[in-house]
Order: sequence, then structure tokens, then C-alpha cells
Amino acid sequence: MDTPEKTARPAATLTLPNGRTATLPIVKGSAGDDAIDISSLRKDTGLVTLDYGYHNTASCESDITFLDGEKGILRYRGHPVEELAEKSRFVEVAYLLINGRMPNKQERVEWSMLLNRHSLIHEDMRHFFSHFPDNAPPMAILSAMVVSLSTFYPELSQNRFGTEAINIAATRLLSKVRTIAAFSYKKSIGEPVVYPRYDLRYCANFLNMMFSSPVHPYEIRPEVVKALNVLLIVHADHEQNCSTSAVRLVGSAHVNLYASVAAGICALWGPLHGGANQRVIEMLEDMEARGETPRQRVERVKASHGKELLYGFGHRVYKQYDPRAKIVKRTCDNLLRALDIKDPMLEKMMELEDIALHDDYFVERHLYPNVDFYSGVIYRAIGIPKEMFTVMFALGRLPGWIAHWKEAIENPRFKLQRPRQVYVGQVLRHLDGTEYAADSSTPPEARA
Ligand code: SDX
Repeated sequence: MDTPEKTARPAATLTLPNGRTATLPIVKGSAGDDAIDISSLRKDTGLVTLDYGYHNTASCESDITFLDGEKGILRYRGHPVEELAEKSRFVEVAYLLINGRMPNKQERVEWSMLLNRHSLIHEDMRHFFSHFPDNAPPMAILSAMVVSLSTFYPELSQNRFGTEAINIAATRLLSKVRTIAAFSYKKSIGEPVVYPRYDLRYCANFLNMMFSSPVHPYEIRPEVVKALNVLLIVHADHEQNCSTSAVRLVGSAHVNLYASVAAGICALWGPLHGGANQRVIEMLEDMEARGETPRQRVERVKASHGKELLYGFGHRVYKQYDPRAKIVKRTCDNLLRALDIKDPMLEKMMELEDIALHDDYFVERHLYPNVDFYSGVIYRAIGIPKEMFTVMFALGRLPGWIAHWKEAIENPRFKLQRPRQVYVGQVLRHLDGTEYAADSSTPPEARA
């Protein structure tokens, strides 16, 4: 029904084959895509929309992150990611994403105190690690441990979604996931865990928990701390990507933050998404094992017609160089120079990139390096094993997941997410073998 205010706003008119029309309001963004609001489409026309992979579908209105895939722009709460990577620390960017602005001096102090206060995990949880198989995938451990946090800290279940409870849960997650990641690494190499320290900042604390041990102290290099801050910042959010959409979808059932984030961890694990950073290194190891040149690998990928992928290339929204990949590459060069490391893989990667950037198959499909292509070289230089790369991605993406979960539940239009479908299966059939074709008007149960 076209109400006066509805037709006053800019709108699209849809004309159907049967001559019926529908007026659909246009929702204007402050930057980037505008949208046709189809909330009344089914009521007005009896039709739904179909959009595999949601290439053309906005799931929500959000003011957290803006990206422009054609121009290679990425901004967190309006701040360019390049500026944040250069001038801020990860915990400040986490505060920005979750609270909508950078923290002032007092808020920085309080935020750091909360992160320190929540840096330990319950001692009972420490024993969980010894019951996973030695070769358990770290993302499986991470997801299990994060959902377990809701059993130790039920504040979000009791107090529903009060702001205070959300902020406590947010700093708990940011701090404890860092500890869980480090403890799971220590478990994987059979070393005793190293507890967090109050005198170390977020990234330095993580590095110390990962690499120091009772028999050899770890020298915390400022260049490594800086590189880790940059890596976590460029991974901190990316609007409605697969894992963030999983967090929002699971959260829409009024599931607590920990369980919603655990769902995001599982989505991120996929090799098409956050798991790609590990696949990039495995792809290079496979090339080495086969004695394959970068040109031969590119030709093999092209000949596979989509069955083989060049991991670290391509993106659903970036149809030019991922701005994060540029930052990661620059950070990688700076770190290797500072640590005087020559990683033979890096040369192979640069050759792969050069070939792909000039090959019609990749150029025509807008396949450029994404955030996962070079990040593994930095993790390797820091000493992080490839099995932990996606855990590092999850550590970075935590503030984004938290911010989107919070934005969703605070939105008055927020509803349980339950998409429609187009049913293309058997219309009706009975055990006695009778069947009713798609165009039968009144199947038997309707006649009763
Ligand atoms: C992340 O969404 C986000 O924001 C994600 C992320 C974030 O911060 O959250 O940015 C993080 O997930 C980065 C992407 C990491 N994944 C990879 O590096 C895996 C390799 N990339 C591909 O799987 C692929 O590029 C996707 C999944 C990332 C995007 O694919 P789309 O948008 O679904 O596009 P598509 O699969 O339809 O590909 C279009 C064409 C196809 O060829 P044709 O059928 O047209 O002949 O490009 C080809 C694809 O076969 N193609 C590739 C390719 N990626 C796409 N061919 C070779 N190698 C690739 N990497």
C-alpha cells in the first residue's frame, strides 16, 4: 500500500509481468551504496528476491566500517585504515570500533586496566587444553574455548544486553582470546604456559606469552610489537564479511556475545575467508615440493577453471588492490629489514604477484592480492607457525565482531535473521506413489 510519506521519499518502482507495480523506498548511505528497501516487497507483490552470495544485498545499515571496493578505500568509524595503522595502537582501534570514537586519556587508562584485569582465564579452563589431541586445529580449540567463556562468565545471559555487561564481556573477550591463543600455542609445542603480565601492553604481552619460557627469556623488539599492532589493526573489521555476518546472524537469536563470536571463529576458519593466510604458505610449500615455478603455478590455476585457487588473491568486494595488502606488504618489508631476515618465500610471492597482475585471466577477473597474501610472511618472521595464522586473524577481527554484535542488538529494527528461499523441489507426493505437479491448484490436503 503506497502511503503518502512512503511516496514522498526517493523510490524505485517495480513493474511485474502481471502488470502490478510496487513502490520501494530508496535508502541513502552517507557514502558508498544506496539501497532499495524491499521490506514490503513480499506483502506488496507476493515475490521475494534471490541473490546467491548476497552480492547485491545489504543485510543492515551500519556506521562502523566503510569500504569502497572499486576505489580501495577502508575506514573504521570514518578514520582511514592507513592513518590508524600508522598512528594508533590496536587496543585504541578496538575501542574506536566498539564505542564509535577514539578513547580520551582517561578512557585509555580505564580500557587498559580492564584489559589487564581480564587477561587471565579461569584455571579450570587451562586444563581444557590437555584434553585436546596434540594436532587439534587451533581454530577448533579457539572456538571451543570462546564458547566456554559463557559458562564461566554468564553475565550476558543473566543481565541480557545491558551496556555495562557488554563492555565487560568485550574487554574479557579481547583480553582472554589473546591468552587462549598463546596458551594453545604453548600446548602445541609442549611448553609450560606463560601468564600475562600487568606491566606489558597488549601486543608485547601476547608476544611474551607466546615466546618466553622459564629457560630462555624473550626479547620484545619494538619493531615486532609495531608490526603486530599494524597486522591486528588491518584485520580489525571489514563490514559485512562472512564471519561478521555469522556473528550478526547468530546474535539475532539473542545468543550471548561469546557464543556469537564462536560462530564467527568457525566461519573465519574457512580457506575462502580467514583460513586463506595459512593456505598461501601451504601453496608456496606445495610449489617448492613440486619444483614448480610461479609461472607454472599460475598456468595450473588458470587451466583448472576455478578448481584450483591462487590463495591470497581475489576478493568479493575489492576489485582492485586490497588497501590492507599494501599496508601489510610495507610492514613486511620494514620488519624483515629490521630483523635482517631474508625469507625465500617472499621473493616467490612477489614473483607470483607480478605475474598475476599482468595476466589477462587475473586482470579480467579483478583478482588482486588481498589481506591474506603477505600477512603470513610477517607471522613467520615473528615466529608464529602457519597453523596459528587464522587464530591471529581472529584476534584482530574480535573488535569488529563485538562492534557489529553490539550495533545489531542496539538497533530497534533488529530482528531475528531468517531469510526466505525459492523452493524448487517436489511439490507434493504420497507414499502410495501419487504425485502432484508444480501447477496443481488445490493439492488434496487443501481440499480436506
Ligand atoms: C578474506 O569479505 C571480506 O571482507 C573477507 C576479508 C575480511 O577482511 O573479512 O577480506 C578476508 O576472506 C579475504 C579473501 C581470502 N580468500 C582467499 O584468498 C581465497 C582465494 N580467493 C577466492 O576464493 C575468491 O577470490 C573469494 C572467495 C575471496 C571471492 O570470490 P567471489 O567474490 O565469490 O568471486 P568468484 O568465486 O565468483 O570468482 C570470480 C571468478 C571465477 O572465475 P570464472 O568462474 O569467472 O571463470 O574469479 C575466479 C573464479 O574462479 N577466482 C579465482 C580466484 N578468486 C576468484 N581464480 C583463481 N584464484 C583465485 N584466488
